[in-house]
Amino acid sequence: MNIQIAPSILSANFAKLAESVALIEQNNGADLLHIDVMDGHYVPNLTIGPCVVKSLRKESKLLFETHLMVSNPDDLIDDFIKAGSDRIVVHPETCRHLHRTLTKIKEAGVQAGLAINPSTTIDDCSFDYIGELLDSVTVMSVNPGFPAQKFIPSSCKKIANLVSKFNELGLQIQIEVDGGINNNTAPLVTQAGANILVAGNAIFNTPNPLESLISLRESALAIAC
Ligand code: DX5
Ligand code: ZN
Repeated sequence: MNIQIAPSILSANFAKLAESVALIEQNNGADLLHIDVMDGHYVPNLTIGPCVVKSLRKESKLLFETHLMVSNPDDLIDDFIKAGSDRIVVHPETCRHLHRTLTKIKEAGVQAGLAINPSTTIDDCSFDYIGELLDSVTVMSVNPGFPAQKFIPSSCKKIANLVSKFNELGLQIQIEVDGGINNNTAPLVTQAGANILVAGNAIFNTPNPLESLISLRESALAIAC
């Protein structure tokens, strides 16, 4: 299984963001960069806007995965794509017309992802009708809004159920997990079927983020292969 590690900049040093990204972008480092956008409405936290993505875009060659935890993603998608996002991840609850939002992202030549909160079920997501628009599905293993939260164990069952659902529908969609991922939880989620692991605290709040990232990948692979 091809395990990808996506460091979340939410736990990086925002006073030295480009340096923090460069730290984990070196050889054998990050496979993609997870950029958490929060508007203080959909989630009780406020982070960054398209201008930060635009500045970071000049500093990094990584795939930018922009996670929109905002009340009205339709209002922001164009700006984040223009700023250099390669994948836009939205929450179904925030999209008045989810099929139209995902179509708009794909028609812009950008990958589309869906993030499922802990209390959102697989059936809530209408994969039968939007599945062919998705490049990835993100299982939120914490309630969105903050870094360094405790992993919610029921996420593993949801990951396994997604694997079955996508097999049933014949869909090739990457399964990502986001929240509370560390050396202990990483093997649990890869064993359940996730292949993209987002991690902020476990990477950036350590003395050597690159070493932590490599160790995280090793712990994920320990079970996956
Ligand atoms: C939470 C964000 C996550 C978070 C992950 O709302 O979507 O990406 O930054 O952080 P850790 O790995 O610290 O739980
Ligand atoms: Zn996120």
